[in-house]
Amino acid sequence: MNTLLLGEKDAALAAEIIKRGGLVAMPTETVYGLGASALNERAAARIFEVKGRPADNPLIIHVASAGELEKWCVNIPPSAYLLAGAFWPGPLTLLLERNAIIPDIVTAGLKTVAVRCPDHRLALELIRLAGVPVAAPSANTSGKPSPTAARHVLQDLCGKIEAVLDGGGCRVGLESTIIDLTCSPPRILRPGGVTREQLAAVLGEVEVDAGLLGSGEKPRAPGMKYRHYAPQADVIIVRGDDAARIFDYINSRPDEGAAVLCFDGEERYVKSKICLAYGSEREPSTLAERLFACLRELDREDIKTIYARCPSEDEGGVGFAVANRLKKAAGGRVICL
Ligand code: TXA
Ligand code: MG
Repeated sequence: MNTLLLGEKDAALAAEIIKRGGLVAMPTETVYGLGASALNERAAARIFEVKGRPADNPLIIHVASAGELEKWCVNIPPSAYLLAGAFWPGPLTLLLERNAIIPDIVTAGLKTVAVRCPDHRLALELIRLAGVPVAAPSANTSGKPSPTAARHVLQDLCGKIEAVLDGGGCRVGLESTIIDLTCSPPRILRPGGVTREQLAAVLGEVEVDAGLLGSGEKPRAPGMKYRHYAPQADVIIVRGDDAARIFDYINSRPDEGAAVLCFDGEERYVKSKICLAYGSEREPSTLAERLFACLRELDREDIKTIYARCPSEDEGGVGFAVANRLKKAAGGRVICL
């Protein structure tokens, strides 16, 4: 299949492809999504096929406004409208009871459906013109880092989908925060661009899924249990209070096949290993924006091990989400010094 590369002016064409049951990768403020009509079972099935996604991992449906919630969800609590009012369009996904009109394949047979309104002009235009909710997981091959630029989508899916709508780089860089509103208090199932602190300011009490806190419990969002966001190399997080000790350790490791993912300004401490800085430790949103692009850049035949600096989870904020993704990429390999 020839994958079309579409741009700014092509939202109508992209919407036509979606209406006809095709697959279009679309830009959002978080990561690129692999879009298809959420009301078309065959199109949704193709999403799973081209990504190599396990069938038990449900999809998020994307809407153009909170006014659509009633069409696709039932028993919607007031908290949904409060959150939509505060954070939509934006990087927050609401988990609600599903209307049976949404096909089983989209929700992996669950009674809930995840809904999000993305903060990207082209995505919103595409959804409006298509006239259907757009099911869209991140537009990467399952297991790989999520794409934050159109070229990342092409690396994984060129020739497998009808089109990529290029809307530039993704501002947030990590997938949306998912909050489950079917339980009380509401529970964060995946950390992202909207922080726990921001959610608590609107809702009062908010829980974090124990499966995200290293309790050994199974995470409640099916997708959070897989090794993820991973380049071919082994990612090893190196932590500690003392940066000098961290770099002594990294520098003592063999150089061949090794790379370092560090914070801005730390490049000068790294001796004779490939080195990439992904953002400022003091501004975790900069780390979020570049993490996946850097993991992709280090996804090379000659790189076997990546030593990575990771922000502290204790300070909350977006750093918590960055640490969550890096730990997934590392498959739990953390060295504490
Ligand atoms: O920012 C985002 O959310 C991006 C952009 C494209 O919108 N999308 C995204 O989708 O990250 P995906 O498929 O890569 O991740 C969706 C996550 C998975 O962990 C999945 O298990 C969870 O949402 N999820 C979806 N529906 C669910 C449901 N009904 N119950 C529990 N978890 C659900
Ligand atoms: Mg994904």
